[in-house]
Amino acid sequence: MSAGPVVVLVGPMGVGKSTVGRLLAERLGVEYRDTDDDIVAEQGRAIADIFVDEGEPYFRAVEKRAVHRALAEHDGVLALGGGAILDPDTRALLTGRPVVYLSMDVEEATRRTGLNVARPLLAVNPRKQWRELMEARRHLYEEVAHAVVATDARTPEEVAQAVLDALEL
Ligand code: S3P
Repeated sequence: MSAGPVVVLVGPMGVGKSTVGRLLAERLGVEYRDTDDDIVAEQGRAIADIFVDEGEPYFRAVEKRAVHRALAEHDGVLALGGGAILDPDTRALLTGRPVVYLSMDVEEATRRTGLNVARPLLAVNPRKQWRELMEARRHLYEEVAHAVVATDARTPEEVAQAVLDALEL
């Protein structure tokens, strides 16, 4: 058991959680951990393959376990997969923690390269699917977030600084 992560990053896929998370970990001199990486290591295959082979409910169950484990064990910077906040128990567990929601508008999302690569939820029509995902999830990100940091037109370094400022670190 640890005191828990010093920063938890939530937000949609492609928003830059891993890039910003790594920068934050470096700045704070702590470890970076990403629940998607934990899942890939545990399952021995890519996230997209887990979705295709087993379906989304299976993935969400694996993800829930991975997130709860990481929240209990990790005391550095933690990035959660974009859909982790769909689970009500996970949202409850995030309450009162230093959670920062990295937000991004749809124009920015579709401009960023690689958004639809290896991301099963955006495979068919990235722009439309991204919009629908955000409509369903925006309030959930806001519900768990201690602070919201907009990433549009900001470099990863600027976003990392804004996160540190928001959490007074
Ligand atoms: C998902 C986001 C992905 C990954 C999976 C599902 C989602 O994580 O967990 O493809 O539901 O938004 P990233 O946000 O790290 O890309």
